[in-house]
Amino acid sequence: MTNRVPFIAGNWKMNLDHQQGIALVQKLAWTLKDANFDYATAEVAVFPGFTSLRSIQTLIDADQFELKLGAQDISAHDSGAFTGEVSGLALKKLDVQYVLIGHSERRQLHNESDDVVRSKTAAAFKHGIVPVICVGETLEELESEGAAAVPVRQTLAALAEHESLGDFIIAYEPVWAIGTGQVATPEQAASVALKIRDAIRAEHGELADRVRILYGGSVKANNVAGFLRSPEVDGVLVGGASLDSEEFSGIARFQSHLAI
Ligand code: 13P
Repeated sequence: MTNRVPFIAGNWKMNLDHQQGIALVQKLAWTLKDANFDYATAEVAVFPGFTSLRSIQTLIDADQFELKLGAQDISAHDSGAFTGEVSGLALKKLDVQYVLIGHSERRQLHNESDDVVRSKTAAAFKHGIVPVICVGETLEELESEGAAAVPVRQTLAALAEHESLGDFIIAYEPVWAIGTGQVATPEQAASVALKIRDAIRAEHGELADRVRILYGGSVKANNVAGFLRSPEVDGVLVGGASLDSEEFSGIARFQSHLAI
Protein backbone atom coordinates (compact mmCIF):
# COMPACT_ATOMS: atom_id res chain seq x y z
CA MET A 1 0.00 0.00 0.00
CA THR A 2 2.73 2.44 0.90
CA ASN A 3 5.86 3.01 -1.15
CA ARG A 4 7.49 5.19 1.49
CA VAL A 5 11.10 4.09 2.00
CA PRO A 6 11.79 3.61 5.74
CA PHE A 7 14.08 6.26 7.21
CA ILE A 8 16.52 5.27 9.94
CA ALA A 9 18.09 8.34 11.51
CA GLY A 10 20.80 8.63 14.13
CA ASN A 11 20.72 11.87 16.13
CA TRP A 12 24.12 12.06 17.82
CA LYS A 13 23.07 15.11 19.84
CA MET A 14 26.07 16.82 21.52
CA ASN A 15 28.27 13.71 21.47
CA LEU A 16 31.46 12.75 19.61
CA ASP A 17 34.16 15.03 18.20
CA HIS A 18 34.89 14.85 14.47
CA GLN A 19 37.49 12.11 14.84
CA GLN A 20 35.16 9.93 16.88
CA GLY A 21 32.44 10.71 14.35
CA ILE A 22 34.62 9.54 11.46
CA ALA A 23 35.42 6.30 13.31
CA LEU A 24 31.74 5.67 14.01
CA VAL A 25 30.65 6.25 10.42
CA GLN A 26 33.42 4.01 9.10
CA LYS A 27 32.44 1.22 11.47
CA LEU A 28 28.77 1.66 10.67
CA ALA A 29 29.33 1.50 6.91
CA TRP A 30 31.56 -1.56 7.21
CA THR A 31 29.18 -3.37 9.56
CA LEU A 32 26.32 -2.79 7.16
CA LYS A 33 28.47 -3.92 4.24
CA ASP A 34 29.50 -7.10 6.05
CA ALA A 35 25.84 -7.83 6.70
CA ASN A 36 25.07 -7.30 2.97
CA PHE A 37 22.73 -4.49 3.92
CA ASP A 38 20.50 -3.44 1.04
CA TYR A 39 20.14 0.35 1.08
CA ALA A 40 17.00 0.00 -1.02
CA THR A 41 15.25 -1.38 2.09
CA ALA A 42 15.90 1.72 4.18
CA GLU A 43 17.57 5.11 4.01
CA VAL A 44 20.15 5.40 6.79
CA ALA A 45 21.15 8.88 7.91
CA VAL A 46 23.49 10.28 10.55
CA PHE A 47 22.99 13.66 12.22
CA PRO A 48 26.36 14.72 13.73
CA GLY A 49 27.10 18.00 15.47
CA PHE A 50 28.07 20.96 13.28
CA THR A 51 31.82 20.60 13.81
CA SER A 52 31.77 17.06 12.39
CA LEU A 53 29.68 17.70 9.29
CA ARG A 54 32.55 18.59 6.96
CA SER A 55 34.67 15.57 7.97
CA ILE A 56 31.79 13.18 7.59
CA GLN A 57 30.67 14.67 4.31
CA THR A 58 34.21 14.17 2.96
CA LEU A 59 34.31 10.59 4.23
CA ILE A 60 30.93 9.66 2.75
CA ASP A 61 31.95 11.24 -0.52
CA ALA A 62 35.45 9.73 -0.74
CA ASP A 63 34.42 6.20 0.25
CA GLN A 64 31.12 6.38 -1.61
CA PHE A 65 29.14 5.29 1.39
CA GLU A 66 25.41 5.20 0.81
CA LEU A 67 24.72 6.90 4.13
CA LYS A 68 22.84 10.19 4.19
CA LEU A 69 23.92 13.29 6.10
CA GLY A 70 21.79 15.50 8.29
CA ALA A 71 22.32 18.48 10.62
CA GLN A 72 20.73 18.98 14.02
CA ASP A 73 19.52 22.54 13.51
CA ILE A 74 19.31 25.35 10.95
CA SER A 75 19.03 29.11 11.29
CA ALA A 76 15.84 30.76 10.14
CA HIS A 77 18.11 33.37 8.50
CA ASP A 78 20.44 33.11 5.49
CA SER A 79 23.32 35.29 6.73
CA GLY A 80 24.12 38.30 8.85
CA ALA A 81 24.45 39.27 12.49
CA PHE A 82 23.23 36.04 14.09
CA THR A 83 26.16 34.96 16.25
CA GLY A 84 26.34 31.23 16.78
CA GLU A 85 23.75 30.35 14.13
CA VAL A 86 24.39 28.12 11.10
CA SER A 87 22.61 28.95 7.86
CA GLY A 88 20.94 26.68 5.34
CA LEU A 89 23.29 28.10 2.70
CA ALA A 90 26.32 26.77 4.58
CA LEU A 91 24.64 23.42 5.24
CA LYS A 92 23.67 22.99 1.61
CA LYS A 93 27.27 23.64 0.61
CA LEU A 94 28.23 20.61 2.74
CA ASP A 95 25.68 18.43 0.89
CA VAL A 96 23.54 18.20 3.99
CA GLN A 97 20.31 16.56 2.85
CA TYR A 98 18.24 16.59 6.05
CA VAL A 99 17.93 18.78 9.10
CA LEU A 100 16.29 18.19 12.47
CA ILE A 101 13.97 21.02 13.42
CA GLY A 102 12.22 21.58 16.74
CA HIS A 103 13.72 18.67 18.64
CA SER A 104 12.14 18.66 22.10
CA GLU A 105 15.55 19.48 23.61
CA ARG A 106 15.59 22.68 21.56
CA ARG A 107 11.98 23.47 22.32
CA GLN A 108 12.53 22.95 26.04
CA LEU A 109 16.12 24.07 26.65
CA HIS A 110 16.33 26.81 24.01
CA ASN A 111 12.74 28.03 24.16
CA GLU A 112 12.01 27.28 20.50
CA SER A 113 8.39 28.15 19.89
CA ASP A 114 6.14 26.76 17.16
CA ASP A 115 6.81 30.01 15.32
CA VAL A 116 10.58 29.50 15.39
CA VAL A 117 10.10 25.91 14.22
CA ARG A 118 7.92 27.19 11.38
CA SER A 119 10.57 29.75 10.31
CA LYS A 120 13.33 27.16 10.38
CA THR A 121 11.14 24.81 8.34
CA ALA A 122 10.76 27.62 5.79
CA ALA A 123 14.55 28.04 5.69
CA ALA A 124 15.03 24.32 5.06
CA PHE A 125 12.48 24.39 2.20
CA LYS A 126 14.19 27.45 0.74
CA HIS A 127 17.59 25.74 0.63
CA GLY A 128 16.36 22.36 -0.59
CA ILE A 129 17.13 20.56 2.66
CA VAL A 130 14.47 18.15 3.90
CA PRO A 131 13.25 19.17 7.36
CA VAL A 132 12.73 16.42 9.90
CA ILE A 133 10.20 18.22 12.08
CA CYS A 134 10.19 16.85 15.62
CA VAL A 135 6.97 16.83 17.62
CA GLY A 136 5.89 15.21 20.85
CA GLU A 137 4.10 15.60 24.15
CA THR A 138 5.47 15.80 27.68
CA LEU A 139 4.23 13.46 30.39
CA GLU A 140 1.99 16.21 31.79
CA GLU A 141 0.53 16.85 28.33
CA LEU A 142 0.01 13.11 27.84
CA GLU A 143 -1.95 12.99 31.06
CA SER A 144 -3.99 16.14 30.40
CA GLU A 145 -4.58 15.93 26.62
CA GLY A 146 -3.76 12.39 25.54
CA ALA A 147 -0.91 11.42 23.22
CA ALA A 148 -1.88 12.93 19.87
CA ALA A 149 -3.11 16.47 20.63
CA VAL A 150 0.27 18.18 21.06
CA PRO A 151 2.09 16.39 18.21
CA VAL A 152 -0.77 17.16 15.82
CA ARG A 153 -0.84 20.81 16.89
CA GLN A 154 2.94 21.16 16.56
CA THR A 155 2.89 19.51 13.12
CA LEU A 156 0.20 21.81 11.74
CA ALA A 157 1.93 24.87 13.20
CA ALA A 158 5.23 23.98 11.50
CA LEU A 159 3.46 23.51 8.16
CA ALA A 160 1.29 26.63 8.28
CA GLU A 161 1.66 29.66 6.01
CA HIS A 162 4.32 28.38 3.61
CA GLU A 163 3.96 29.41 -0.01
CA SER A 164 4.39 25.78 -0.91
CA LEU A 165 5.51 22.71 0.97
CA GLY A 166 8.62 20.81 -0.08
CA ASP A 167 9.34 17.28 1.07
CA PHE A 168 9.36 16.90 4.82
CA ILE A 169 9.49 14.22 7.49
CA ILE A 170 7.73 14.24 10.86
CA ALA A 171 9.42 12.60 13.85
CA TYR A 172 7.03 11.78 16.66
CA GLU A 173 9.09 11.69 19.83
CA PRO A 174 7.15 11.59 23.10
CA VAL A 175 9.29 13.67 25.45
CA TRP A 176 8.79 11.17 28.28
CA ALA A 177 10.34 8.42 26.12
CA ILE A 178 13.54 10.27 25.17
CA GLY A 179 16.64 8.91 26.84
CA THR A 180 14.55 7.32 29.58
CA GLY A 181 14.32 3.72 28.43
CA GLN A 182 10.57 4.20 28.83
CA VAL A 183 9.53 3.35 25.32
CA ALA A 184 6.08 3.99 23.81
CA THR A 185 4.22 0.90 22.67
CA PRO A 186 4.15 0.22 18.92
CA GLU A 187 0.35 0.63 19.06
CA GLN A 188 0.66 4.05 20.64
CA ALA A 189 3.28 5.20 18.12
CA ALA A 190 1.14 3.93 15.23
CA SER A 191 -2.00 5.56 16.56
CA VAL A 192 -0.32 8.98 16.92
CA ALA A 193 1.35 8.63 13.50
CA LEU A 194 -2.07 7.92 11.96
CA LYS A 195 -3.58 11.00 13.61
CA ILE A 196 -0.68 13.17 12.43
CA ARG A 197 -1.10 11.90 8.87
CA ASP A 198 -4.87 12.44 8.97
CA ALA A 199 -4.34 16.00 10.20
CA ILE A 200 -1.82 16.71 7.42
CA ARG A 201 -4.25 15.28 4.87
CA ALA A 202 -7.13 17.39 6.19
CA GLU A 203 -5.05 20.55 5.94
CA HIS A 204 -2.76 19.91 2.96
CA GLY A 205 -4.36 17.11 0.94
CA GLU A 206 -2.80 14.10 -0.70
CA LEU A 207 0.83 14.96 -0.05
CA ALA A 208 0.12 13.40 3.37
CA ASP A 209 0.52 9.98 1.77
CA ARG A 210 4.13 10.77 0.82
CA VAL A 211 5.19 12.09 4.22
CA ARG A 212 7.33 9.77 6.29
CA ILE A 213 6.39 9.73 9.95
CA LEU A 214 9.02 8.38 12.32
CA TYR A 215 8.92 7.27 15.94
CA GLY A 216 11.69 8.27 18.35
CA GLY A 217 12.34 7.61 22.02
CA SER A 218 14.47 4.79 23.47
CA VAL A 219 14.59 2.86 20.19
CA LYS A 220 17.01 -0.09 20.26
CA ALA A 221 17.79 -2.99 17.92
CA ASN A 222 15.61 -5.25 20.04
CA ASN A 223 12.47 -3.08 19.90
CA VAL A 224 12.69 -1.42 16.47
CA ALA A 225 10.79 -4.14 14.60
CA GLY A 226 7.67 -3.59 16.71
CA PHE A 227 7.41 0.00 15.48
CA LEU A 228 8.18 -0.70 11.85
CA ARG A 229 5.74 -3.56 11.62
CA SER A 230 2.98 -0.94 11.47
CA PRO A 231 2.39 0.60 8.03
CA GLU A 232 1.84 3.93 9.81
CA VAL A 233 5.40 4.21 11.11
CA ASP A 234 7.95 4.90 8.37
CA GLY A 235 11.16 4.86 10.34
CA VAL A 236 12.84 5.79 13.59
CA LEU A 237 14.84 8.67 15.04
CA VAL A 238 17.44 7.20 17.36
CA GLY A 239 19.47 9.00 20.01
CA GLY A 240 21.67 7.02 22.40
CA ALA A 241 21.66 3.79 20.39
CA SER A 242 22.96 5.61 17.29
CA LEU A 243 26.32 6.18 19.03
CA ASP A 244 27.09 2.45 18.88
CA SER A 245 27.77 1.18 15.37
CA GLU A 246 26.68 -2.41 16.12
CA GLU A 247 23.47 -1.31 17.77
CA PHE A 248 22.61 1.25 15.11
CA SER A 249 23.35 -1.16 12.28
CA GLY A 250 21.04 -3.63 14.06
CA ILE A 251 18.35 -0.95 13.95
CA ALA A 252 18.97 -0.25 10.25
CA ARG A 253 18.66 -3.99 9.60
CA PHE A 254 15.19 -4.07 11.19
CA GLN A 255 13.90 -6.09 8.24
CA SER A 256 15.88 -9.06 9.47
CA HIS A 257 14.02 -8.93 12.82
CA LEU A 258 10.61 -8.53 11.19
CA ALA A 259 10.40 -12.17 10.21
CA ILE A 260 11.06 -13.33 13.77
P1 13P B 1 16.98 8.24 22.69
O1 13P B 1 16.95 7.23 21.55
O2 13P B 1 18.30 8.32 23.37
O3 13P B 1 15.82 8.01 23.61
O4 13P B 1 16.76 9.69 22.04
C1 13P B 1 15.73 9.89 21.16
C2 13P B 1 15.91 11.20 20.50
O5 13P B 1 15.75 12.25 21.11
C3 13P B 1 16.31 11.22 19.08
O6 13P B 1 16.18 12.49 18.53
